[in-house]
Amino acid sequence: MGKTDFKPGNMLYPLPAVLVTCSDKDGRDNVLTVAWTGTVCTNPPMLYISVRPERYSYAFIKESGEFAVNLTTAAMTRAVDFCGVRSGRDIDKFAAAGLTRIPAAVVKAPLISESPVNIECRVRDVIPLGSHDMFLAEVVHVTVDEKYMDEKGTFHLDQAGPVVYSHGTYFELGKARGSFGYSVRKKKKKRK
Ligand SMILES: Cc1cc2nc3c(=O)[nH]c(=O)nc-3n(C[C@H](O)[C@H](O)[C@H](O)COP(=O)(O)O)c2cc1C
Repeated sequence: MGKTDFKPGNMLYPLPAVLVTCSDKDGRDNVLTVAWTGTVCTNPPMLYISVRPERYSYAFIKESGEFAVNLTTAAMTRAVDFCGVRSGRDIDKFAAAGLTRIPAAVVKAPLISESPVNIECRVRDVIPLGSHDMFLAEVVHVTVDEKYMDEKGTFHLDQAGPVVYSHGTYFELGKARGSFGYSVRKKKKKRK
């Protein structure tokens, strides 16, 4: 079988499906699901989220210049979908989706207690691209769930069952196939 052409479109999958939390100057807050997100720089640590201007959350993020990215787990999948198909204009999505707000360390937006990783961000730049505006942001604080830390201080995100989004479907992360650099790592000789 050969290759077939496919219309140019968003084919870069899988992607993380994250919950982005935000708030406005009057203390109102909201949460929306975002899949158009990624890491863009190691030092300073930076990431982006792309958000359509018509989203209720858009003005919160643009005006406050802050947001938090909350990673998601298999147990949170229903909440991930719900926060991506309902608007905070109409309901309190935290309450409706069973998500617990906890205060952030640096930003005003709340964090989600159920998330294994909470990444607080400050917007550096807003880049209009077309359907979406890209918020390029610096990571200003990170908290992780102690449940996934071992005694050596290593964090095991895989144990949380992270969720990815691929062509319209949510998947729980699968089997490990190797770790960074394993393809060139020398095997330890067994002592006789
Ligand atoms: C899996 C998934 C991924 C999504 N990714 C994005 C995204 O990257 N950017 C965006 O603007 N909307 C995205 N959405 C849609 C918003 O989450 C959705 O319109 C939400 O209702 C907006 O909430 P709000 O009106 O309370 O801000 C996604 C929805 C789902 C279900």
